[in-house]
Amino acid sequence: MFKRTHTCGELSKDYIGTSVSLNGWVNTVRLHGQVVFVDLRDRYGKTQIVFNSEDYDGDFEAVKKLSMEDVLSVSGKVFNREAGAVNPDMATGEIEVIISEMEMLNEAAPLPFIISDRNSAEEDLRLKYRYIELRTDELQNNLKIRHKAYQAVRNYLSGQDFIEVETPVLMKSTPEGARDYLVPSRIHHGQFYALPQSPQIYKQILMISGYDRYFQIVKCFRDEDLRADRQPEFTQIDIEMSFVDEEVIYVQMEGLTRNIFKEVIGVDLPDAFPRLTWDEAMETYGSDKPDTRFELFLQDLKPFTDQSDFNAFKSAEIVKGLVVPGGAKYSRKNINGFTDFVKKYKAKGLAWIKAEEGQLTGGISKFFGEALEKELISETSMNDGDIIFLIGGEKEIVLNALGALRVEIGRVESLSGTGEFKPVWVTDFPMFEFDADANRYVARHHPFTAPSSSDIKDLETDPGSLKSRGYDLTMNGYEIAGGSIRNHKPEFQAKIFELLGMDEEEATARFGFLVEALKYGTPPHGGIAFGFDRLVMLLAGTNNIRDVIAFPKTTSAASLMDEAPSSVSDDQLAELNIRIVDKGE
Ligand code: AMO
Repeated sequence: MFKRTHTCGELSKDYIGTSVSLNGWVNTVRLHGQVVFVDLRDRYGKTQIVFNSEDYDGDFEAVKKLSMEDVLSVSGKVFNREAGAVNPDMATGEIEVIISEMEMLNEAAPLPFIISDRNSAEEDLRLKYRYIELRTDELQNNLKIRHKAYQAVRNYLSGQDFIEVETPVLMKSTPEGARDYLVPSRIHHGQFYALPQSPQIYKQILMISGYDRYFQIVKCFRDEDLRADRQPEFTQIDIEMSFVDEEVIYVQMEGLTRNIFKEVIGVDLPDAFPRLTWDEAMETYGSDKPDTRFELFLQDLKPFTDQSDFNAFKSAEIVKGLVVPGGAKYSRKNINGFTDFVKKYKAKGLAWIKAEEGQLTGGISKFFGEALEKELISETSMNDGDIIFLIGGEKEIVLNALGALRVEIGRVESLSGTGEFKPVWVTDFPMFEFDADANRYVARHHPFTAPSSSDIKDLETDPGSLKSRGYDLTMNGYEIAGGSIRNHKPEFQAKIFELLGMDEEEATARFGFLVEALKYGTPPHGGIAFGFDRLVMLLAGTNNIRDVIAFPKTTSAASLMDEAPSSVSDDQLAELNIRIVDKGE
């Protein structure tokens, strides 16, 4: 192998006449009789190298057999390209290297897909050959963005006096909401470690130990149903601070987020991020992670439908409407498509009315008298050519379904421009949700979140209506971070475990060490965790989380490249004292 003198992205006119050695992959090969043009690629760029039978010292037949992704080491001299051959799209497009010697370092087998065209293969095939897919410009760029984001986070937080502390990956099973990944202990038969769903308890304990401002870029593990923005193992920027309230955390995290966007993609985010209470977000956007890049708002239409002759909504808890400007163009087929869409969110149906020539037409318009029609048009600010979609029913279902339709219409109509980033804090979450199946409350954030009331009696009297001191940072319809001010008083923490249906014995068995630790001098504290992968998705402009993770899992939590999970040997199982009852499929 020739010692690399330059990378494939480096050479320019300044190097004309210089002897160079390059190493890299064959990106493309073009045969022109006794001249062979190759674009040689490494992660820095591409350089056109030229073999012509006159200047080349080696076996020219071997050059003619070069194929894509062979790994070469070459040496030669840098030349100006002829005027017509200059490639302005290539950083090295003004030069070429005339090769005198070549060493084939590794001959590539025929490729399962073409690197310059990721879409030439299904995702499963690309994941199986992830090492090849990782050579594509898109993934190389995404991982560079990810790298820059790590550096921006570390620089910013270190500059603000945060210290990075690692916490265990093998921990006690203390489920936070999702299912735990369990690891059997060889030494303690029948006992298990869990992989952390987040370092939540450790970071709180670090506050008790006086570390004041902590952060960690950390892997978290959750065995839950996967989606386009969820992975079973994902990365958080985990943060905790002492002697703070929400305002201090908002300011610090806005600073961090602004810094990341500026450093990584040169985007300026606003000085202070807008805030919405959870109630406002749900009522106006039908989502607790509102995409505020486009201004379509849910409106309360129950007063109108109650006065109309449309009886289907009379018994509905709420009726909400969404005006889509220009939506009167939707055909029956379009509307049926939207109806099927909202049914996935448990809506019973989708009512609609169009506005044309100052009048309401189609759909359920016939149930509205003339006066009511005028009132509805003016109240909803409908214009000719618009459509209004209506959903009635149970509050939660209506808000979720119409909120999802809002996002879908935003997508179909391209209402949000690329390169636009709209952060929003969502605050004042309900403290608990009632889980009818389990007949008990569940924590909306997690059990360590403090209630908005500092009077413990409020936890007893009406827990269902309590708000929490939790907050989420959302952007463009994604929840990019979530956190809260914590319970730093043991009696509050114990009471919350009780409300969550844990008797004292269970609370002690699961979280006794935390309640005990809270007794020994605990500062008021709070924190947050960013979904780092989601943040990088936004920075990279993709909506697939697998595009920003080097070795991601599929939606069925499998790694197609190394075939994890896999069975293990009987000896390994015996050592762990584990017997497989049913091997399944
Ligand atoms: P939470 O559960 O809200 O909070 O997680 C914080 C952020 O992590 C991201 N996230 C995920 N990203 C990819 N795949 C997943 N499966 C996944 N699950 C969550 C989201 C989310 O906002 N310990 C608390 C934080 C705290 O209270 O300080 C926690 O983990 O972007």
